[in-house]
Amino acid sequence: MKLSLANMNVANKTVFVRVDFNVPLKDGVITDDTRIRATLPTLRHLIDQGAKVVIASHLGRPKGERKPEFTLAPCAKRLSELLEQPVRFVEDCIGDIPAQAVSEMKSGDVVVLENLRFYKEEEKNDPTFAKALADLAEVGVNDAFGVSHRAHASVEGITKYLPMGAGFLLEKEIRYVGGAVEHPEHPFAAIIGGAKVSDKIEVISNLLPKVEVLIIGGGMANTFVAAQGHNVGTSLVEADKFELARELIARAKETNTNLLLPVDFVVADAFSETANHKVVDATAIEEGWMALDIGPKSRELFAEALAPMKMIVWNGPMGVFEMEVFAGGTNAVAKAVAEANATTIVGGGDSVAAIEKSGLSHKISHISTGGGASLEYLEGKVLPGIAALQEA
Ligand code: 3PG
Repeated sequence: MKLSLANMNVANKTVFVRVDFNVPLKDGVITDDTRIRATLPTLRHLIDQGAKVVIASHLGRPKGERKPEFTLAPCAKRLSELLEQPVRFVEDCIGDIPAQAVSEMKSGDVVVLENLRFYKEEEKNDPTFAKALADLAEVGVNDAFGVSHRAHASVEGITKYLPMGAGFLLEKEIRYVGGAVEHPEHPFAAIIGGAKVSDKIEVISNLLPKVEVLIIGGGMANTFVAAQGHNVGTSLVEADKFELARELIARAKETNTNLLLPVDFVVADAFSETANHKVVDATAIEEGWMALDIGPKSRELFAEALAPMKMIVWNGPMGVFEMEVFAGGTNAVAKAVAEANATTIVGGGDSVAAIEKSGLSHKISHISTGGGASLEYLEGKVLPGIAALQEA
């Protein structure tokens, strides 16, 4: 068990809080503040305890350069609105400027430091840089699940100089995503989608022996269909993964796992929203047509399989959901997951976007704030940012 913020003495202390405010921005405006909102329970707790809250994050990939388009200033402003209190933005993350700002803080004050990745030392996990960050505070909290798969200075290196525990968001991610991997409830289903088998192979391999039902959809399902000798027309396929797909099908048989592939597809004659499209059986895709969504029989089959589950993990869309005509399969799965009487966990940028778009996100037990981090967690990997935290 990792040390929880709930058991840390933070009253009147200066607390370094690593968050993941890597939010999408358009022309300097935050288009989705989910990741900022997700840290509010931790930040409010620290404020209530009278801590001096020093927040640090990365934003984008400025590669060690001070690039104005990656400033954290808009995040500080948004945070101030959400907390309904002033939040001071500090134009650097190490050195005299933050040291001075911290020395001026009073109990309950909040500052946001400038982007950690303006220093290349952050991603290099440089010990001197990690120590410079640690020197700003008396105690540390990691609430940055989204970047906990990276052994970076503010995530991993810093723990050598500053006692660090898990914030409430990180704890929730460990409880749900970690819980699904380590001690799932049964019957347990995983729904894996997305374009490529190669991106999800390790997740499938790790979850296959743990689940009763494994549903495969999205572009990667084409590879499974083609690997069984069926024509998939001009659909996206990874021919070098046919053998692997056949192996996975065989492994599922051995372990008595119900591996479900689409039985029908929505196919189109071009990769376009305005292309001609129709529904065909999975074994009847003609030349010149490509699968862009799962068909109605597959949606029904998947929904029936999901209904009796006690736990469901979903990562990856069922089709090209960004185009409305090919979003039906992903929406149907979103509905089936939301309606199941189960602990439900949705991770990965696209499936999270799909569940948000469907308006059913309030019915999901946990929507992960991690993209790469939740994928690596589901792959069974140890996340360095979590491993480095103090034991309770
Ligand atoms: C994410 O958005 O997945 C995290 O913030 C990590 O970002 P990175 O992939 O640039 O390290």
